[in-house]
Amino acid sequence: MAVLLNDEALDTIFRKARTHNGWLDKPVSDDLLHRLYDLMKWGPTSANCSPARILFLRTAEAKERLKPALSAGNLEKTMQAPVTAIIAHDLKFYEQLPRLFPHNPGAREWFTGSAEFALATAFRNGTLQGAYFIIAARSLGLDCGPMSGFDNAKVDAEFFPEAVPDPESTETPPSSVVKSNFLCNLGYGDQAKLFPRGPRLTFDEACKIL
Ligand SMILES: Cc1cc2nc3c(=O)[nH]c(=O)nc-3n(C[C@H](O)[C@H](O)[C@H](O)COP(=O)(O)O)c2cc1C
Repeated sequence: MAVLLNDEALDTIFRKARTHNGWLDKPVSDDLLHRLYDLMKWGPTSANCSPARILFLRTAEAKERLKPALSAGNLEKTMQAPVTAIIAHDLKFYEQLPRLFPHNPGAREWFTGSAEFALATAFRNGTLQGAYFIIAARSLGLDCGPMSGFDNAKVDAEFFPEAVPDPESTETPPSSVVKSNFLCNLGYGDQAKLFPRGPRLTFDEACKIL
């Protein structure tokens, strides 16, 4: 039977977890990034399509490449964070379906005929995986600072150039086309830099039971 999480665990991943804007000078190891991915990858996606692709930026050089794409309000905290993850998704995720969804050998073809359906599926499931990423990071003791205040086209051109195809090119199309969704700073948050906690909608405001 599933083990229920106790109140402290629920506080860690939801009730007391905050969105961080400042970071302590405490590094995040590569091993922890591996553990983070190895947890979040188990969250469900449609047809197990797993479209999320994550680029972890930790060096000053990598951060400099991100800088021109950041909005002013996100600049300083992102430069300071031990790691900034680009949460992205592969528009050609369906190339992996024969391996990821072997129970239906025809699953790849659901997507090859419709770029629109592939895009909606990649975005929906990649975003879900981004949420799993945040909860997994928190459950491993990390703090997160998710951000959508940046120029996706600039990030894609800099980090995922295959997403900006050259119409003149005669080369075989790439087997993956990765596009950014949102950014997430990772590390150990500085409590002193938190904004006051915003309220949330009540059950009655946000939910209906029919
Ligand atoms: C997808 C996403 C994008 C966000 N973009 C930004 C951003 O660009 N800049 C920023 O300062 N905060 C950003 N936030 C932070 C939200 O404002 C914050 O998570 C929300 O107010 C809840 O704060 P709390 O977790 O501390 O309660 C973003 C959060 C999410 C989930």
